[in-house]
Amino acid sequence: MAIDVILGLQWGDEGKGKIVDYLANNYDIVARFQGGPNAGHTLKFDGQKFVLHTIPSGIFRENLINLIGNGVVIDPITLEKEIHKIKSVVGDYKERLLVSKKAHLILPTHRYIDAATESFKGKEKIGSTLKGIGPTYMDKTGRNGLRVGDIMLPNFMEKYESLRAKHLGILKLYPEIDFNLKAEEEKWFNSLENLKSLQTVDGEYYINQALKDGKRILAEGAQGSMLDIDFGTYPFVTSSNTISSGVCNGLGVAPSAIGEVIGISKAYCTRVGSGPFPTELEDEIGDLLREKGGEFGATTGRPRRCGWIDLPQLAYTIMLNGVTQLVITKIDVLNEFETIKAATHYEYEGALHEQLPYDICNIPIKPVYTSFKGWSTDLEGIAEYEDLPPVAQSYIKALESHLNVPVSMISTGPERKKLVLKEIGVLN
Ligand code: GDP
Ligand code: IMO
Ligand code: MG
Repeated sequence: MAIDVILGLQWGDEGKGKIVDYLANNYDIVARFQGGPNAGHTLKFDGQKFVLHTIPSGIFRENLINLIGNGVVIDPITLEKEIHKIKSVVGDYKERLLVSKKAHLILPTHRYIDAATESFKGKEKIGSTLKGIGPTYMDKTGRNGLRVGDIMLPNFMEKYESLRAKHLGILKLYPEIDFNLKAEEEKWFNSLENLKSLQTVDGEYYINQALKDGKRILAEGAQGSMLDIDFGTYPFVTSSNTISSGVCNGLGVAPSAIGEVIGISKAYCTRVGSGPFPTELEDEIGDLLREKGGEFGATTGRPRRCGWIDLPQLAYTIMLNGVTQLVITKIDVLNEFETIKAATHYEYEGALHEQLPYDICNIPIKPVYTSFKGWSTDLEGIAEYEDLPPVAQSYIKALESHLNVPVSMISTGPERKKLVLKEIGVLN
């Protein structure tokens, strides 16, 4: 069997949580492979709403195993809070939630360093979620990090103290940062008890055995491809590989194990935090998208920047990920728009381009748009592709033919069941 992948093709918040939750019933295992509590994946079903940060979005489905892979960074405090919020609904979570021993731990001091380095950047700040993600991945690649499996080792306290000492040394460079380490440390150590009570596994053996046993596995991405550490709008990115290749490192599987790559894009585009966003609309249309789409961060509550869908950007991330099918979410947000736009090209350095420039953070880009007639109809309740208004179908067809990837699903609302399934292979 192969591992299918679901990931975001823009700057995050594409609706990954909703789609993973919907599709999870077709799988035996859902696995997160990167990121950490910077993620906020929203699930809505039976009138209830949950936001997951570390736990995979398959947790609400009976009998389904949820693995937090080695590529994820875990803050035990957040994880404990998350478990507390879902406990009454998911019941048997201890049998179904597994944690890789090789996943790295976010320490309280990682969060302080995140805050310190962000404030030091001044106007250049990334707009980090301040969850300690960057400093934790830095310690991982710097070979100083603490891993989940270390908790059980006899020299764990020694390792912890040595890393804390290093962090306190760094923090001395930022005297303006105020923190109460004692109180946070107490919480952190208490939450380690919760982590210890979970099943930890050698994730790479676990997942490869599952593949051999014919289990169906879905890998759930966090963030979006434009936040990828290598290919995103660097330095305004996160600190992990968010693209499909991250599945191999983040779970310990070979590239040949990857099956379908399901890329998610909103019918428009958003970004939270700083950095380039060529199609951003800093006008009343942008405000309307934010209002209609409820575009406020699921993790930090910050207003998301909004703009039109950006086809050169999507073509880029489809290429990087090897996307085999596209999911378009939040199409209902455009219900009342008389005209819908999509950027087809970029104008920069005096010429038209289909590629993103290397210096995307500094080169002024003027997007060139094509316009579509809006459908001015409520799409709620539509389950069949054929029942979508012809203009909405034309919009989807235009995306398919421009991007050369079939659209397999169109999401028409935040609820689990609000989804139009479309037969794929209908490229025009
Ligand atoms: P994720 O990080 O990719 O899982 O996305 P978020 O949960 O951060 O943000 C997506 C937001 O849009 C959440 O509030 C979802 O409940 C909501 N959502 C998902 N799909 C749809 C949709 O098709 N229509 C509308 N209106 N909202 C949606
Ligand atoms: P999900 O999984 C949207 C953004 C932050 C910031 C940058 C770096 O819900 O799609 P970090 O905390 O990683 O140091 O922040 O990345 N960011 C996200 N934006 N959705 C997310 O996750 C994000 N995770 C990080 O806003 O600009
Ligand atoms: Mg999110």
